[in-house]
Amino acid sequence: MDSNNIIKIFDTTLRDGEQSPGASMNTEEKIQIALQLQRLGVDVIEAGFAAASPGDFDAIRRISEQIDKSTVCSLARCVEKDIKAAADSIALARHKRIHVFLATSPIHMEYKLKMKPDEVIKRAVQAVQYAKTFMEDVEFSCEDAGRSDINFLKEVLDAVIKAGALTLNIPDTVGYRLPNEIGARIKELSDFVNGRAIISVHNHNDLGLAVANSLAAVENGARQVECTINGLGERAGNAALEEIVMAIKTRQDVFAPLYTNINTKEIYPTSKLVSLITGIESQPNKAIVGKNAFAHESGIHQDGVLKNKETYEIIQPSDIGLDKNHLVLGKHSGRHAFKDRLHTLGYVLKDEELNEAFEKFKILADQKKEIFDDDLRALVAEEITKIPQVFELITLQLSDCNPGGVPNAAITIKHKEELITDAAIGNGTMDAVFKVIDRVCNVSGELRDYKVDALSQGKDALAKVIVKVAFDGGKPIIGHGLNVDTMYATAQAYIGALNSYMSMK
Ligand code: KIV
Ligand code: ZN
Repeated sequence: MDSNNIIKIFDTTLRDGEQSPGASMNTEEKIQIALQLQRLGVDVIEAGFAAASPGDFDAIRRISEQIDKSTVCSLARCVEKDIKAAADSIALARHKRIHVFLATSPIHMEYKLKMKPDEVIKRAVQAVQYAKTFMEDVEFSCEDAGRSDINFLKEVLDAVIKAGALTLNIPDTVGYRLPNEIGARIKELSDFVNGRAIISVHNHNDLGLAVANSLAAVENGARQVECTINGLGERAGNAALEEIVMAIKTRQDVFAPLYTNINTKEIYPTSKLVSLITGIESQPNKAIVGKNAFAHESGIHQDGVLKNKETYEIIQPSDIGLDKNHLVLGKHSGRHAFKDRLHTLGYVLKDEELNEAFEKFKILADQKKEIFDDDLRALVAEEITKIPQVFELITLQLSDCNPGGVPNAAITIKHKEELITDAAIGNGTMDAVFKVIDRVCNVSGELRDYKVDALSQGKDALAKVIVKVAFDGGKPIIGHGLNVDTMYATAQAYIGALNSYMSMK
């Protein structure tokens, strides 16, 4: 394929996606998502905003150490200390990029930046020049380009190209534009830039048009698209990677010779991993990765699909790596079968991780007759994103949930090799569980969100619990629990959030 026709996929799940309310991830989780994005074949992984916090910096640094195919990108405002932090955070990456941004719309310049247009140009140029002292690959974004004057955009772009920017991003930051408008603006800017740099787009979804706008941009000269898995992102989210990629692939009659480097068979595993980690499930009717995306409910459709799949399916589930939710393994399955199935699902575990995951699988197989792919995915995600267990749940005993009774929870938690046992009563069993954990661990947690899902079929399905807890008045942190017993999974999730809190501290 001619590399002039590639549409670069720039994934910002770990940066803009993480700005989605409640989607914050710990470092181990970010690393696993980055590794999966690399497997998916994204060209650029925007790993975070290094100056935001030491935790963000550290996550980008650790991702940079492990990613060797995709370019690792770090975001910075047009401020020296941000740019320096961005450069330091990706110093170890094999392929690296600094992404600087500055707003160019009248409303942002007047009220947010309090800067005149010529000051904005000057600051943008200084920032790009400074970023270039660290590395060759520098991207510049005109924040709120969607509402910026097109002639001013041309002035800014011209100036930053001369300063050395290789990629020029045109974000529709507030998701305001319609596809025909985006198409026309990108065409005009692309003609103006005339091959001196790559034009990129970054569309938000406030009017539900982020994907349509991205495709219109591609048809008019954009050669990089910024997007996120499952369309995660600020407010209504960003353009969904899976939708853009599958539209380009499915409609080659329109887009050829353009293509992406994405291995579409990794789309479903990536989507699943992101929703397992963030606790944010896509809506069932979400295109490509929603639970119902390939379900045919009506008799007429079912009949048609049985006769010829193409009557009602424009994409085969296997194209995105969605095999049937196989009944895979049971308690008699050996380590080899387990490893083999994980391999088919795209997981390559280190020996130590594999051993621990296998131990957990055996325990699970004792509790649950049939183990499905979704059970395995959840089990492995728990294993590979594990952070240091400052507190570890050992046992949990509950009584009494009868009306009129006094619900209480007795717990044993391991902390620094010491086993601590205590009990508490509460308004309900869950309240009792949280109270006793707070007391044993000497914290004060405020539960902000609680979600439980059955992972697969059957009465004995694994319960996947996700909690969001704000400890000691801090920001909410996600915790996951996975067990055949919902209350045990709840305690695991709460302690998981606490361990994340400890590791961030
Ligand atoms: O939406 C936006 O404008 C952004 C920039 C930082 C690229 O996320
Ligand atoms: Zn954005």
